[in-house]
Order: sequence, then C-alpha cells, then structure tokens
Amino acid sequence: MSTQRVLITGAGSGIGQGIAHYLAGQGFAIVATDIQLESAQATADAINSAGGDATAYAMDVTDEAQTESVFDSAGPIHGVINNAGIQHIDPIEDFPKDRWAQLIQIMLVGPAITTGVAVKRMRAQGYGRIINLGSIHGLIASPYKSAYISAKHGLMGLSKTVALETADTDITINTVCPAYVKTPLVEKQIADQARTRGITEDEVITQVMLKPMPKKAFISFEELGGTCAYLMSPAARNMTGQALVIDGGWTCS
Ligand SMILES: NC(=O)c1ccc[n+]([C@@H]2O[C@H](COP(=O)([O-])OP(=O)(O)OC[C@H]3O[C@@H](n4cnc5c(N)ncnc54)[C@H](O)[C@@H]3O)[C@@H](O)[C@H]2O)c1
Repeated sequence: MSTQRVLITGAGSGIGQGIAHYLAGQGFAIVATDIQLESAQATADAINSAGGDATAYAMDVTDEAQTESVFDSAGPIHGVINNAGIQHIDPIEDFPKDRWAQLIQIMLVGPAITTGVAVKRMRAQGYGRIINLGSIHGLIASPYKSAYISAKHGLMGLSKTVALETADTDITINTVCPAYVKTPLVEKQIADQARTRGITEDEVITQVMLKPMPKKAFISFEELGGTCAYLMSPAARNMTGQALVIDGGWTCS
C-alpha cells in the first residue's frame, strides 16, 4: 500500500496532537481534525514544517453531516483514531445532567458516528484500521467521573460489536486504554480533583493519579503513538475488538 492516511479526531491538543506528530514521523499522512479548526490547523502546520504531510479540518464528532463531508474531502482514509474527549468531575448527586449527556455524546455517540462513516468507506476500499482512545477508566472506575467512565466502558462495547460486524473484511477496531497522560485535559482535572477532594494539586498527582500505578509515571505520547503504529501494521491484522492497556501495572492487583 502507498502512504497510509490517518484521520485523528481532537487532534488540536494533547494526545491527538501527540499521536499525530508521532505517526507523521513514521511516514503516515495525517488528517488532523478538531472542533476548533485553529488548533487542528496548528497541528497540521507543525507537521508540515517538520517535513511531514498533514491537512486540517474542522470536525465536531457529534455532527454526522460534517463528519461525512470531511471524509468526502480528505481522500482515502486508511486509519481513524477516535480521540476527541472532555472530562467533568463531580459526585453523581451534583453532576449537571446536561453535562453528563454531553460527555456521552462526545465520547460514545461521537466515535459511533465517526466509525459508521469510516466503515462505510473502508468496506468499499477493502481495508481499514480504527483505533479508539479509551482509558483505564474503560475497565475500572474511580469516584466522581461517572459520565466519563460510563462513556469509556461503552466504547469497549462499541469496539467489540464493530469488530464482529467487520470480521468479514480487512478492517480492525481496537481500543487503547492508557492510565494518566499529562495533557491539558489532565492539568484541568488536577485542579478540579483538588477542589472536589479538598487536597492540594501535588497530593492529587501523588495520592490519586500515580498512587494506583506501580510504575508511578505518566504515560507518554511516544508510547501511545507506537501502539497506534503497531495497530496500523500488518502484524496486527488479526487483532480486533481488543483493549490494549497501558497502565503501568494499575490493573495487576
Ligand atoms: N489525558 C489522559 O490522562 C487520558 C487518559 C486516558 C484517556 N484519555 C483520552 O484521550 C483523549 C484525548 O484526551 P486529552 O487528554 O488529549 O485531552 P485534550 O483536552 O488535551 O484534547 C481533547 C481535544 O478534543 C477536542 N474536542 C472536544 N470536543 C470535541 C468534539 N465534539 N469534536 C471534536 N473535537 C473535540 C478538543 O478541542 C481538544 O483539542 C480523550 O478521549 C480522553 O478521554 C486521556
């Protein structure tokens, strides 16, 4: 196959941006999408300045018509990384329910929309790789994140179902499940958790975030990008419907 083109949602910040840079460095062409065009454009500009190949589009993952139109414009898409996400921290009794619904919409309905649009085209081209940015919170729970954890658990079910539906062709779908990665989403969460739990931000890092991880380290973009590159490789052609857990040993005990 010639150059593989990978569309990444939420590519204007954090993990999406980090994976975009990593995969561009490995020779993939990148379609950087984000609800904020300027941030997707900044990611694409940085990749192109470094000698890579990237284009940028505004794409709200909850908007099916806009998603269809981006796929129509971007050229053949070989890989999709469902990455866009947000967080909200509150105990269930105080959790604003419109906010709860918004998290599900962006992190569960959004990936279902993008995956549906992608599978239609991947079936026609006879090839596709779909990667969901799940979370360790797709496997286990922590307090005060009921919407996020429900969305990430749901993503595992979406992935397994689509793996069965696409097993008759060369399409795979898998979910990468990292523990904490230092991104703007997590920086904000450190402040929110300090408020909700009544502890300092340093205590949130050591006593909440890194405490359950035997390796006591944030997960890097390089580890996530390398896992995505593996899932895009021929070596992973029979891996589908799986969770790839990068959690520093969190779920061992
Ligand atoms: N940071 C972590 O520790 C961590 C751990 C596990 C999983 N994740 C997951 O990784 C993904 C990325 O998180 P991050 O930490 O890089 O966050 P981030 O806040 O740095 O980036 C999220 C991006 O998603 C975009 N976005 C938000 N709503 C959107 C929408 N409706 N349509 C399109 N784009 C939208 C934002 O504009 C932003 O650019 C999320 O799915 C998150 O759940 C993060």
